[in-house]
Amino acid sequence: MPSSGLSSSSYSASPQQRLTAVVSHLRRERKLKVVVTRDLGPDVMPILKQWGDIELVTWPEDRACERQWLLDNIPGASGIIVMLTDKVDDELLEKAGRQLRIVSTMSVGYEHVDLRAISRAGVRLGFTPDVLTDAVADLSVMLALMASRNAGQTASIVQAGNWPNSPWAPFKFCGPQLSTSQFSPTRTVGFLGFGRIARATLARLIPFGITHCIYTTRSSSSSETDEDPTLKPYLSATNPLSSLKSITRVPLPTLAVESDVLFVLAPGGPETHHIVGEEFLKGMKKSAVLVNTARGTLVDSEALARALREEWIWGAGLDVVEGEPKIGVDHVLLKEPRCVILPHIASATFETRRGMATLAAKNLLAALDGGDMPSELDLKGRA
Ligand code: GLV
Repeated sequence: MPSSGLSSSSYSASPQQRLTAVVSHLRRERKLKVVVTRDLGPDVMPILKQWGDIELVTWPEDRACERQWLLDNIPGASGIIVMLTDKVDDELLEKAGRQLRIVSTMSVGYEHVDLRAISRAGVRLGFTPDVLTDAVADLSVMLALMASRNAGQTASIVQAGNWPNSPWAPFKFCGPQLSTSQFSPTRTVGFLGFGRIARATLARLIPFGITHCIYTTRSSSSSETDEDPTLKPYLSATNPLSSLKSITRVPLPTLAVESDVLFVLAPGGPETHHIVGEEFLKGMKKSAVLVNTARGTLVDSEALARALREEWIWGAGLDVVEGEPKIGVDHVLLKEPRCVILPHIASATFETRRGMATLAAKNLLAALDGGDMPSELDLKGRA
């Protein structure tokens, strides 16, 4: 007689253990279909394959998954792992069917997911915060340095074999210094968005002698955070290695006016669309540098190109651009020598991408098991 899969000990177990046992039993009885829109590599694919008897359908190519392939393969899926290049909307959810329980995105951002649609469909959303904080903070500082020190423009001179025509000269290729100096004893960094990545970026900037930090956030619940105990370790008052005198929440126009370096680190979406536009850029210092490692939609590319061309600001370092990856040589920002653009690689370290893929897989499996996901987006108030 085939075993029911429910051992007698299941009956003395807690409700949660019993639910888990029932789910595992059902899983064994009926294969669950899981669709993955990118091969997650040799460390993570086995986690999915070995989890149980699931029907795993993986986009087979080493490029972004085609929408039509996804629509053709999603029917009957209980779970799906997507990338930020895959749109999750009503069409996809309807195609999937009512058995779909989890969308797990291998990203911290979820601009590509229609939160209302997913909430209406009663589907849970997993995402990958925290694991990429350090990698993105590292690259944010790198872009600030690259943009202020003309790294994009000067590296291309060397690559084109033109160094012989550009010998060392006293003031050639100079740019504003990120660290404090005898000529610029104060430095203010600004953050548009002040979450985990912004704070990790601030921590990296403290050895540069930054003296002031200002920020804006979506919430207006508090007007001042020098009192926030989690920020105390950054400040010179409590940290002898820091010269940071203040961390202050400010209105958006003040953020533009006072920042020497401004980091855009807020979520994308309609609320923040083109928040850095002409008016904001016109308010900035001529010597200021803008860094965007969040989402391209926050910055109006046309306005930024004008700001660089007409020298309203010094430079820009972008890891994201609105409309990416369709950014060809004729893009308005590629004509600006003081604009350094990278192709959305802020989290691209081996360690971080492995961490993100692992977390995306764990989120998916936890939801299929009916349990708590390591990182689930709380849809309340967002959808
Ligand atoms: C990258 O941009 C991410 O959202 O993970």
